Amino acid sequence: MSKSACVPMHLVRRLLSELRLAPTIAVGILAAIIGMVSISSGNWVLIRHFPSGWARAAGLDLGVLFSCPTTSIGPSSTSQHRASADIQVFSLDPLVLYIHNFVSQDEISHLLNASVGKFEPSRVWWGADGEIDPQSRISDTAILDSDDVTEQIKQRALRIQGWKGGKSTYSQPLRAQRYGVGGFYTFHYDWDKAVKRGNRVATLMVYLVGNCSGGGTNFPELQRPDDARWCEVVDCDDGDYEGVTFKPTVGAAVYWENMHPNGSFHMGVEHAALPVKSGEKVGLNIWLWDPEWTPPPGEAERLIGAGL
Ligand SMILES: *[C@@H]1O[C@H](CO)[C@@H](O)[C@H](O)[C@H]1NC(C)=O
Ligand SMILES: *[C@@H]1O[C@H](CO)[C@@H](O)[C@H](O)[C@H]1NC(C)=O
Ligand SMILES: *[C@@H]1O[C@H](CO)[C@@H](O)[C@H](O)[C@H]1NC(C)=O
Repeated sequence: MSKSACVPMHLVRRLLSELRLAPTIAVGILAAIIGMVSISSGNWVLIRHFPSGWARAAGLDLGVLFSCPTTSIGPSSTSQHRASADIQVFSLDPLVLYIHNFVSQDEISHLLNASVGKFEPSRVWWGADGEIDPQSRISDTAILDSDDVTEQIKQRALRIQGWKGGKSTYSQPLRAQRYGVGGFYTFHYDWDKAVKRGNRVATLMVYLVGNCSGGGTNFPELQRPDDARWCEVVDCDDGDYEGVTFKPTVGAAVYWENMHPNGSFHMGVEHAALPVKSGEKVGLNIWLWDPEWTPPPGEAERLIGAGL
């Protein structure tokens, strides 16, 4: 009988020493079973077919054999463990997707490190000039320098968006948003009604740190799903807010399109960062721009009609 087992390195060493093999023979045996060893990092060895007889012979308790903890495995094996098609369509109109594991733990560590020392109080841009407005927004923003990791993440986001808008579609520099207790961002749209050419056609809200209560991303116009399986992803017990609140789950992203297919601003994508009640949240804003976008005819009147 055998089973797949993750063996702590120190047990592997003990196994070899219990078998009282000379080091050269031990190396030979290791070489012989190398085909069975699929993951080896500093502290863990995953053996695909671990013979229970060996464990008994060495007096090892099979109960200590378990799956390798993902945090202890290096980056390449982590990505082997990640499914690559983990996207759920949440809504078709507006288009809202929920993306599990949009960023890896290594990328998160990198982004958080890259944001150290860059945080400044967030501004709002209701007019032409950004201003600090604690009635509307309390958080700190770090604009991240471009590097290999941020560029890869931008490309990943653009691929999901489907490069609609053509070759010129691009991502604004990534921004980390840090919310402490009481931090929030009031209801707003990501599209900018003031510009006449180029706009944020799609947004990804990525969660880097979600060690908090409160702090979800709320869309008052979206319909709360009936299917309880969504409760893993959205807050199903929230009586305080209308619509849908996505939980700040570390590594996940919510993707939405800010425009109708005809280019009109979508009114269904209004959203807010709900107040953090305890702990801390760090989000990552990815805004995808189509520089060729222009308002369709009658858009200004449509906005006035909608009271905006
Ligand atoms: C963290 O960022 C600094 C630059 O701000 C860099 O020198 C350092 O290597 C980074 N550390 C890690 C672990 O990425
Ligand atoms: C999460 O927050 C709690 C307190 O709110 C704190 O005790 C804990 O250390 C935090 N964990 C991490 C991983 O930051
Ligand atoms: C674009 O489509 C939306 C949704 O169907 C509609 O409300 C809007 O009026 C359209 N805009 C134009 C310019 O036709």
